[in-house]
Amino acid sequence: MTEPFLIGDTMSGGYGSGPDILHDCTVSVDKGEIAVIVGPNGAGKSTAMKAVFGMLDVRQGAVRLGGEDITKLTPQARVAKGMGFVPQTNNIFTSMTVEENLEMGAFLRHDDIAQTMAQVYELFPILHEKRNQAAGELSGGQRQQVAVGRALMTQPTVLMLDEPTAGVSPIVMDELFDRIIEVARTGISILMVEQNARQALEIADKGYVLVQGRNAYTDTGKALLADPEVRKSFLGG
Ligand SMILES: Nc1ncnc2c1ncn2[C@@H]1O[C@H](COP(=O)(O)OP(=O)(O)OP(=O)(O)O)[C@@H](O)[C@H]1O
Ligand SMILES: [Mg+2]
Repeated sequence: MTEPFLIGDTMSGGYGSGPDILHDCTVSVDKGEIAVIVGPNGAGKSTAMKAVFGMLDVRQGAVRLGGEDITKLTPQARVAKGMGFVPQTNNIFTSMTVEENLEMGAFLRHDDIAQTMAQVYELFPILHEKRNQAAGELSGGQRQQVAVGRALMTQPTVLMLDEPTAGVSPIVMDELFDRIIEVARTGISILMVEQNARQALEIADKGYVLVQGRNAYTDTGKALLADPEVRKSFLGG
């Protein structure tokens, strides 16, 4: 078996000197694939994402990217290695314009960012239309597009999204999922937390159900959707 492209491998850890929130938790994603993490509120989904991105002290286990152990790297160093992260909250600069948000996303780059920005605008045409507006004036769905666009500005090889469709209508959710599939098709790996579990698992190559900081179920999205136990407990029947 070959190692997945990005793996948080049997991670245990918590916040500060507090108790472990994650218990031997493993999440991973392969090149160009979509992996989805679902589970109840407080299950540790965001904590697992933060651990993979280096915002949490991993007391046991490891994070590897392309076979390299990056467990000790800072989040900024991980961005330089090709990771992009869109957190669950406060993921845009509301007082800055859309375009300034995208420029901020490229802060680590010293080369010409114009082409990447054009690609982001091609993916999310509404952002081009609203590029000179304050991001805080945009709708929920458009703000999430700004957040995803900002993360794409570093040209990541793996994009981590924590609830990208939170608070948007079903139609906007479908559109966002379509764009995420488009991003994955360009070869970028997607590791994503979703509360819209059923819809997310439908587009997932791999799915993780987390409960109380532990892996409860891991399988293809399709298999999880068909699993009676998973359906009953986590997908509303
Ligand atoms: N900054 C923090 N400091 C201390 N404890 C925290 C912190 N953030 C989260 N926790 C705790 O960690 C546990 C897991 O929270 P986490 O946010 O990872 O869950 P989640 O699965 O993302 O939930 P949700 O679906 O509500 O987003 C909870 O008990 C929570 O109270
Ligand atoms: Mg969360």
